[in-house]
Amino acid sequence: MHSSCMSLIGFLAMSCLGNQYDPHLYPARGPFFEGWYVRLIDETKSLSIGFLFGRVLPKLSDHNASSQNGSAPSSLNLIKDRTGQYFSHQQHRKETPLVIASILLQDRNFSQKLLQYTGIFRLSDYSVTVRGKPVVKNPDSKSPVDFTVIFRNNGSFIVKENKTVVDISIGNVRLNIRAGTPSPWRSHGEGPEEWLEKFPLPLHWFVYSLCSYVTEYRFFDADMGRVISGKNAYMHMEKNWGKSFPAAWVWSQGITNSNITVALSGGIVNFDQIVSVTAFLVGYRNPSKGIIFDFMPANSVFSFEEDGCHGIIFLNVTSLMHRLELKIFSLIESFSDCLLGPESEGFQPDCIESYDARAVVRAYVRTGLHFKQVDDVEIRNVALEFGGKYVCNNKCLHA
Ligand SMILES: *[C@@H]1O[C@H](CO)[C@@H](O)[C@H](O)[C@H]1NC(C)=O
Ligand SMILES: *[C@@H]1O[C@H](CO)[C@@H](O)[C@H](O)[C@H]1NC(C)=O
Ligand SMILES: *[C@@H]1O[C@H](CO)[C@@H](O)[C@H](O)[C@H]1NC(C)=O
Ligand SMILES: *[C@@H]1O[C@H](CO)[C@@H](O)[C@H](O)[C@H]1NC(C)=O
Ligand SMILES: *[C@@H]1O[C@H](CO)[C@@H](O)[C@H](O)[C@H]1NC(C)=O
Ligand SMILES: *[C@@H]1O[C@H](CO)[C@@H](O)[C@H](O)[C@H]1NC(C)=O
Ligand SMILES: *[C@@H]1O[C@H](CO)[C@@H](O)[C@H](O)[C@H]1NC(C)=O
Repeated sequence: MHSSCMSLIGFLAMSCLGNQYDPHLYPARGPFFEGWYVRLIDETKSLSIGFLFGRVLPKLSDHNASSQNGSAPSSLNLIKDRTGQYFSHQQHRKETPLVIASILLQDRNFSQKLLQYTGIFRLSDYSVTVRGKPVVKNPDSKSPVDFTVIFRNNGSFIVKENKTVVDISIGNVRLNIRAGTPSPWRSHGEGPEEWLEKFPLPLHWFVYSLCSYVTEYRFFDADMGRVISGKNAYMHMEKNWGKSFPAAWVWSQGITNSNITVALSGGIVNFDQIVSVTAFLVGYRNPSKGIIFDFMPANSVFSFEEDGCHGIIFLNVTSLMHRLELKIFSLIESFSDCLLGPESEGFQPDCIESYDARAVVRAYVRTGLHFKQVDDVEIRNVALEFGGKYVCNNKCLHA
């Protein structure tokens, strides 16, 4: 894995953009959020486990105001069920949580539906440090990744240049993951946005690793007495930061045992109350065929259809030299209950997700006036998320 992932490197040697996985500096005033997301795939077990967390600095709130404790909206009790579990210190408060962490689990032997275990944390129990110190500036272009997130009494997320360690307890569920060297999107730490990272976009998406090798993992649910453990899995690692999640979005990501990766994010992004654009960032890699395709708004046109009620998207993206046709779909029964996402007032139910999707990918390269097909693959155990207005019947809005 390492060598083949690494062989993708070396493409854009002149760029000097830095690795954005390290923590960003919160502005003096909200809304602002930063959240990290990793997803492990054990193809031999058809198993996938996600871990995501983040913090929102709410709208109309400065650092002083936000130093109050995050707490749970009253509605959380309503969406708690057998498969969607929330754990909170302060369920009685009527605010939206400012710090959450979720473990997501798709294990078909146990449940068709993606399960979530979401913990709501006090701001005072959440700490993010970079190279052992508080965050005082944004990530630069030189320093290797080195940060630590601590959920007091409930674990940590530690990322160093060649090592990632997840150790988190949410409710009675515990997750441990050890992963090695990342396989970056591009060689010098550029993510899917490339130079757009430098623009003050309302929302940023950075992929740190398309396929880190997982040496060992363990999921333990004390309530059910279930242990799932393994070795030789793969992990995707990314983060988002910005004002809040967009009005509508889809996100998808997959890895195969032959190191093919696909990752995309897109939707309706509001720049202010008036201007909104639909945009996509897409990456596709097939090392056995030497394929490294990246699409961003500045280099491509797209056509997109989604049906959140049937769990399917179609996306075609075309740049000067490359074209990708994607069909990604999952049984609607495999999708989670509404998950919490970063909105301008705090975390609110805003999306659904499945890790059981299939992606049918066709890749083309331009030869003269025409595009010639160079790849046609189907990827399993793919993640597919519908957010905001793309969720079927807006069911997560104010769930
Ligand atoms: C994918 O990665 C694995 C693990 O390192 C490696 O053994 C295998 O040769 C790679 N396969 C391809 C097609 O590159
Ligand atoms: C699910 O069941 C299959 C067949 O018994 C087994 O191979 C696989 O390891 C199981 N998956 C998990 C996550 O236990
Ligand atoms: C935040 O707190 C500091 C120190 O207590 C104070 O000087 C500052 O005015 C406060 N800011 C706002 C916007 O209230
Ligand atoms: C915040 O949490 C601390 C414990 O960490 C508690 O002592 C304090 O009363 C809480 N403040 C509010 C406003 O709830
Ligand atoms: C991380 O791995 C790379 C490639 O294997 C190596 O060049 C580098 O020295 C390693 N860094 C550390 C801190 O171990
Ligand atoms: C923190 O972990 C303890 C068990 O170690 C658990 O009881 C509690 O619910 C966890 N907190 C959250 C917010 O998940
Ligand atoms: C993508 O391209 C294929 C082949 O031309 C076409 O059949 C399909 O309708 C297109 N999908 C979208 C969303 O435009």
